Amino acid sequence: MTRRVCLIDTDPGTDDAIALWLALASPELDLRLVTVAGGNVGLDRTLPNARAILGLAGSAVPVVAGADRPLLGAFTSETRVHGADGLGGVVLPEGPPATPGIAADAIRDLLRAESRVTLIGIGPATNIALALATEPGLAAHVAEIVLMTGAWAEGNITPEAEFNAWSDPEALAVLLGCGRPVTLATLELTAQALVTPARVAALRAAGQGACLAAAARILDGVPPSRRFGHRGFPLHDPCAIAWLLAPGLFTTRDVHADVCCAPGASRGRTLVDRWGRTGQAANARLLETLDADGFFALLAGRLAVLR
Ligand code: RIB
Ligand code: CA
Repeated sequence: MTRRVCLIDTDPGTDDAIALWLALASPELDLRLVTVAGGNVGLDRTLPNARAILGLAGSAVPVVAGADRPLLGAFTSETRVHGADGLGGVVLPEGPPATPGIAADAIRDLLRAESRVTLIGIGPATNIALALATEPGLAAHVAEIVLMTGAWAEGNITPEAEFNAWSDPEALAVLLGCGRPVTLATLELTAQALVTPARVAALRAAGQGACLAAAARILDGVPPSRRFGHRGFPLHDPCAIAWLLAPGLFTTRDVHADVCCAPGASRGRTLVDRWGRTGQAANARLLETLDADGFFALLAGRLAVLR
C-alpha cells in the first residue's frame, strides 16, 4: 500500500476528535502533522484538545499551534454544539506538549520536505492559507486539499454560510484559488452522515479501547439538531477523512466553487456551481452522496483498532 503523506488542520471540536482518531487508525494515511486553529472554541482550548486526542491514541504526531483568529475580522466560536471546552464536556487525560513553532511554518516545512502532501482542513482554513500565501511555489507539492467546508444550499452558522467557510472566507478563497485539486465535503454531504443513538450504540459496541469509548461519550454529548427533527446530528469532519480511505462510499461532481468575502448577510457563503451555469472552469470536486451505513461501518471498524 502506498501511504498518503498528509497533515490535518483542525479546531477540535467534537467531530474533529472523531476525524483525528479515524485518521490515526487508518494505515492508508501517513499523518505527519496536526496543526490547530481557533474555531469551534478558542485556540486556548482547541490546542490542548488536539494534544489530548492524539495522546489518548498514543500518537507521536507533532501538534503545532496556529491562528487564533481569521485573516481578517474577529474570532467567533461555536460553543452551542461543542460546549465551552470543545469536547462536549468529555475530559481526556492531558496529552503530550505541543511542538514549538507556528502552524503555517510547520506546514511549509512539510511541503518543502515532501513532494506530494495531502492537506486535510477540518476547521477555518487560516493556517493552510497562511502557508500557501507566504510561499505560493509550495503549492506544487500539494497532492490534494480535502476540506470539510461550505454549503451550496443552507448554512449552519448563518442562513447562507457554513461555519468553517464563514469563520475565514478569505482563507478559503486562497485555497480555492491555489490551482491544486480541492475536494469539498459540504453540509449537504455531511448531513447524510447522521449520528443517531443507534449508530452511537453500534460504535460503542465495536471495541474496548479508550479512544472508541471516548468517541462514543463525545457523540453522546452533542445535542440533536433542530435541522434533523432532533433525530440526530451530522458528523461533519470524519467525512473528509473517509473520502481518502474509501472513495467508493461517495459520488462526486466537478464544480466551480467560490466564496463570498463581502461584508453582510452572504459573507462566507460558498457559491457552488453544480450545473455549470457560470461557464467557469471547475476548480473543485464536490462530494455529493455518501453511503452512510458504509461510512459508519468504516468508522466503527477503524476506531475499534485504537488503544
Ligand atoms: O460546520 C461544521 C464545521 O465547523 C466542522 O468542521 C465543525 O468541527 C466546525 O469546525
Ligand atoms: Ca472542525
